[in-house]
Amino acid sequence: MGVQEQYSFDVEALRADFPVLDRKVGGDPESPGEGPGDDTPLVYLDNAATSHTPDPVVDTVADYYRSYNANVHRGIHQLSQEASVAYEEAHDTVADFVGAAGREEIVFTKNTTEAMNLVAYAWGLEELGPGDNVVLTEMEHHASLVTWQQIGKRTGADVRFVDVTDEGRLDMDDAADLIDDDTQMVSVVHVSNTLGTINPIGELADLAHDHDAYVFADGAQSVPNRAVDVKELGVDFFAFSAHKMCGPTGIGALYGREEILDSMQPYLYGGDMIRRVSFEDSTWEDLPWKFEAGTPSIAQGIGFAAAIEYLEEIGMDRVEAHEDLLAEYAHDELTALGGVEIYGPPGDDRGGLVAFNVEGVHAHDLSSILNDYGIAVRAGDHCTQPLHDEMGVAATARASFYLYNTIEEIDALVEAVGEARDLFA
Ligand code: ALA
Repeated sequence: MGVQEQYSFDVEALRADFPVLDRKVGGDPESPGEGPGDDTPLVYLDNAATSHTPDPVVDTVADYYRSYNANVHRGIHQLSQEASVAYEEAHDTVADFVGAAGREEIVFTKNTTEAMNLVAYAWGLEELGPGDNVVLTEMEHHASLVTWQQIGKRTGADVRFVDVTDEGRLDMDDAADLIDDDTQMVSVVHVSNTLGTINPIGELADLAHDHDAYVFADGAQSVPNRAVDVKELGVDFFAFSAHKMCGPTGIGALYGREEILDSMQPYLYGGDMIRRVSFEDSTWEDLPWKFEAGTPSIAQGIGFAAAIEYLEEIGMDRVEAHEDLLAEYAHDELTALGGVEIYGPPGDDRGGLVAFNVEGVHAHDLSSILNDYGIAVRAGDHCTQPLHDEMGVAATARASFYLYNTIEEIDALVEAVGEARDLFA
């Protein structure tokens, strides 16, 4: 069976929901109309940065603005009631999608980064002090790394980093050494946005819980691509962003175990999160509203739920199978090309992305050449500078895949990478 026949759904039919994928891009501004890249079909391989938004999600957001735009939890008029119900029910949809107990365990945030800051400020600043430690890994995104680093400085807590092996996996012996009775939080990325490594969250959660520490998993690169159940993973906190999973920008979710969220003080103060206010003191709304101060991202929250419904209709098991197929194919074809260094675990054991360098070509130059071929990848440190330091490179190019990508698009990538390699040889 050819690679193509392994698709478990009709990718071409699905692409019709994403009109942007029909765009033509590229062209060298110095020589318009000449050379590669002019009037070139878009090959969008930057999905780990942000995914595209299918028409049903765009329509859902537009319908909110066209038909029932109103603030939530503030009016008894019909539009406000309709908006409030849709916004609240969006929390239920997100909760069901990741196996949370209910809406009280799902706080809508701006994105994964804000979810991490929420926990670091509302829990970390209160609970951490000298003698405590927080355990991260060398492959954390800056959203987690910088946040806990700075909270560590403010509280006196030590921040430790689990080693990454040469194959791009966590050194679990090092994790077992670093997590001790003074550990209060283990914060770990579920799928690395640079290496593609799928980390053993359950094992880390067991280690952390053996020492009465909490576990926060960063699901920004896992929830879009694979079925996730927070209770099965055994995490205490979990975060992800809608815009990487067919949803709008400006909205993400924090999952927190109810009893922990209940015990935490609010992160932001203001309207909508209070129950009773006097000049002297205030009391807080129930979960999750206690953590959603001010007018929330209403349209985006409703769009988030629509994105989940879109993915569920396809089936997350099929999305995962498709991602696995593309990642393995890209990994193996780029390896076969020669002169390409690929970072992270083997092709058959990684999330849907491949970071690489071409010998003698800076990642930014490579990305710029690929752009001439209409191919969008990300080049840089992908918000993992210390990991790049460990890898001994300043930057990598990263191709990241989603449910609408095809084998032909990866063939186009591999061919263009080969051209770039030859150009600089
Ligand atoms: N964290 C996102 C990425 O890896 C933006 O590109």
